[in-house]
Amino acid sequence: MQRAQPQDFSRVLSSMCTEPHPVARDAAERFLATNPGDPGTYETVATLEREAVATLGEVAGLDDAAGYVASGGTEANIQAVRVARNRASTRDPNFVAPASAHFSFHKAADVLGVEMRVAPLDDFTANLEAVDELIDDDTVLVVGVAGTTEYGRVDPIPRLARMADEVDALTHVDAAWGGFVLPFTHHEWDFSDADIDTMTIDPHKMGQAAVPAGGLLARGPELLDELSIDTPYLESTSQVTLTGTRSGAGVASAAAVLEELWPEGYREQYETSQSNADWLAAELHARGVDHVEPTLPIVAADFAADTVDALREEGWRISRTEAGEARIVMMPHVTRETLRAFLADVDRLR
Ligand SMILES: Cc1ncc(COP(=O)(O)O)c(C=O)c1O
Repeated sequence: MQRAQPQDFSRVLSSMCTEPHPVARDAAERFLATNPGDPGTYETVATLEREAVATLGEVAGLDDAAGYVASGGTEANIQAVRVARNRASTRDPNFVAPASAHFSFHKAADVLGVEMRVAPLDDFTANLEAVDELIDDDTVLVVGVAGTTEYGRVDPIPRLARMADEVDALTHVDAAWGGFVLPFTHHEWDFSDADIDTMTIDPHKMGQAAVPAGGLLARGPELLDELSIDTPYLESTSQVTLTGTRSGAGVASAAAVLEELWPEGYREQYETSQSNADWLAAELHARGVDHVEPTLPIVAADFAADTVDALREEGWRISRTEAGEARIVMMPHVTRETLRAFLADVDRLR
């Protein structure tokens, strides 16, 4: 049988993952056979994880960050809800999140037995009045998204955090995708802008690490302690992660690429991605194609359904928003040349 090869990235337009940076790929290969879940045995990768968390903290405006490199944004979001549930004393906990929140929060609600209350949106971000109405004394967490999956929008994080504070709930920011572009924008989204308790920020998305490398950050170690489970047969005494054995490849690749690219490499990438998004939006406008303006480097284009099907037939890997627009995410592998080739096919097929 022929050796299987993965897809190439030249026509991948809607993924939030990308080709790992060369230093990330190299580190991932070197650390394939390590397990940061057992730091007493795999000491070097455990050190790299501490370095990665410290740098993720810098990216997110947090000194002395607590946290770890998770399997992805899903695990980090589940764990954030778990921290809030475990810290609270109510027997009937709920959390409030905007309708734009990633579906991983529905998994969190299901797995943890915490009610998820979904607030409607106003112009793609959380409607604050609706959030306020949904919050009550049993609310343990308020979620804001900094870079929504479909449209790259940023919720009013400082105001959400103030609402959470009023009922002694925690505030979690999901910056899984946006965390590596937002530092170079004017948005208020990080630990220095608001009283945020936990954050999801994934190196394996815009951070250009190898999969799996998600990120969970917490303002202090006492929040992570809410997750602590004793580990009797290991030399370390406890574990806060959801998974046991974990990928050292993901951890090492995150540490390596953070060291390489933060901050200037990520700034350059943001500038390129944003200018590609703005360029594509202008080209769509010139063609009379409705689209959602890119505040961050994601463009949602309202092509006819059969145009999207025809583009997929041509090998373009595009997915649709719930409302049916094609999502084009300006990941590092999506170059101006890729977009020109894409538009040539759009012009031919629509
Ligand atoms: C905002 C946001 N949060 C969480 C996730 C889930 O991340 P993962 O697929 O790494 O579990 C995604 C995935 O795209 C996302 O866009």
